[in-house]
Amino acid sequence: MARVSINVDHVATVRQARLAAEPDPVAAAFLAELAGAQGIVVHLREDRRHIQDRDVEILRRTVKTKLNLEMAATDEMVQIALKIKPDVVTLVPEKRQELTTEGGLDVVLHEERLGEVMKSLHEGGIAVSLFVNPDPRHIKTAHRLEADYVEIHTGGFAESTTFSRRQDEYERIETACRLAQKLGLGVHAGHGVDYRNVLWLRNITEIEEFSIGHSVMARAVLVGIERAVREMIDLVNG
Ligand code: PXP
Repeated sequence: MARVSINVDHVATVRQARLAAEPDPVAAAFLAELAGAQGIVVHLREDRRHIQDRDVEILRRTVKTKLNLEMAATDEMVQIALKIKPDVVTLVPEKRQELTTEGGLDVVLHEERLGEVMKSLHEGGIAVSLFVNPDPRHIKTAHRLEADYVEIHTGGFAESTTFSRRQDEYERIETACRLAQKLGLGVHAGHGVDYRNVLWLRNITEIEEFSIGHSVMARAVLVGIERAVREMIDLVNG
């Protein structure tokens, strides 16, 4: 049975659209946990376009499952993580212009810098996950870096528009997940996972945890957070 972690960034996006106090991602996280989510994920971006420092501080005190802080490998973010002490930090690439995280981290190119950042986080008692494309070279580098987890980027699969492309992408993810598990890495997966494509991805038994935001929040607008989360958990677990 795979765990489902819920990303509540979109709730903060709605709040920031009016620079208001509501809706509060802290309340959304609470409801997601009530519905059975086994983790809460937030991405504190350099430009603070959705999640704010205050959200992460309060979530640290209120999340009862597991708080996963997505962040770029910058000095500022490392300082924040060491202060807040989330259960897991997921390191992601970050570009100012992007609508959402566009690709996996180039762990091969940035191996040295990532090694420094991971050392600081590990010394602070924080587990580290690296968000990577389903590429064996990147999985092996993550292992060499002594990452605790890899989060396999499922965006290429989710966005593929033909059956054969989707099948190819699925196989890449499956191979990457198998390799990661064989190397002893914890295996997470995320990006673009929705109520349809999860029916494929749930067959990859190496995936221990899905990190899901957009599809669940989009459904939650119409049916409520608890129902949206429950429906996803039911699908993930067949
Ligand atoms: N995992 C990572 C590393 C992400 O950056 C995101 C997007 O914030 C997600 C998972 C969730 O993706 P989605 O919102 O498409 O479900």
